[in-house]
Amino acid sequence: MEQEFMFNNELSGKVALVTGGTKGTGQAIAKRLLQAGATVIITARNKPEESNPGLHFVAADLSRAEGTQRVVETVLADYSRLDILVNNLGSSETPGGGFAVLTDEDWVSTIQANLLAPVRLDRGFLPQMIERGSGVIIHIASIQGKLPLYDSTLPYAAAKAGLINYSKSLSNEVSPKGVRVLTVSPGWIFTTSAKRMAQRIAESASMTVEQATQSIMDALGGIPYGRPAKPEEVAELVGFLVSPRAGYLTGTEYIIDGGTVPTI
Ligand SMILES: NC(=O)c1ccc[n+]([C@@H]2O[C@H](COP(=O)([O-])OP(=O)(O)OC[C@H]3O[C@@H](n4cnc5c(N)ncnc54)[C@H](OP(=O)(O)O)[C@@H]3O)[C@@H](O)[C@H]2O)c1
Repeated sequence: MEQEFMFNNELSGKVALVTGGTKGTGQAIAKRLLQAGATVIITARNKPEESNPGLHFVAADLSRAEGTQRVVETVLADYSRLDILVNNLGSSETPGGGFAVLTDEDWVSTIQANLLAPVRLDRGFLPQMIERGSGVIIHIASIQGKLPLYDSTLPYAAAKAGLINYSKSLSNEVSPKGVRVLTVSPGWIFTTSAKRMAQRIAESASMTVEQATQSIMDALGGIPYGRPAKPEEVAELVGFLVSPRAGYLTGTEYIIDGGTVPTI
């Protein structure tokens, strides 16, 4: 008999966690999973500015082992299970200027947030997924894992490349146990912070926000589709990947970049 999918309520009964779910892409992903009927928990260091009674917030600094441990313990104590883990947190806060300006601290902090946080959360949540023989883990990486920008985001690109590699390894290990593991690699996403960055460039270089946006796209080598992604477009891909409609997908990477990566 053919399975019938109810797109609007297809995650009903599922418990999902979205890291960095208070802003930008994570916020859009959390809302998308909530719309599909999941119970959604979000984490960040600070409370969300926009209150949404449907989203359950756990405060934690996930760049530290204590933070990831607290999230794992809180979620499993309060909800008894986790079905969907979206490792969305990731950032680049190191100075530009290439290898010579980067300190050990820059490298370690970037690897902590972009690679170790997902590794620790996966390790904390996988045992109960394996025990039930089901679960989905998403790693939000970046096209920079393949298209590094050495002058601006060298440690970030290296950490994302590591995340993509780790995601594949983990899938090889746990897919036979019923857990799907996938990578989503976005290009430039027009989040609120991206908009602010374009505004800052516009002000400092006396240009319009549109011209500043175009200059960022040019620095990426151009975006064939002509604009950055909306956070909701990335969220829609994640919403599909965690759903039963994607039941045979595991171990693969999905690039969502409007054509930015110029090679196959
Ligand atoms: N934006 C892009 O153009 C782009 C492109 C490719 C890939 N990505 C990837 O997409 C993902 C989302 O990026 P985004 O730009 O949408 O993020 P964002 O708007 O900068 O939001 C970051 C989120 O993570 C939280 N966060 C930051 N540091 C944290 C920490 N140490 N512990 C816990 N939470 C922390 C923030 O809240 P608090 O500050 O309150 O903690 C916030 O909720 C990341 O993995 C990023 O690498 C983004």
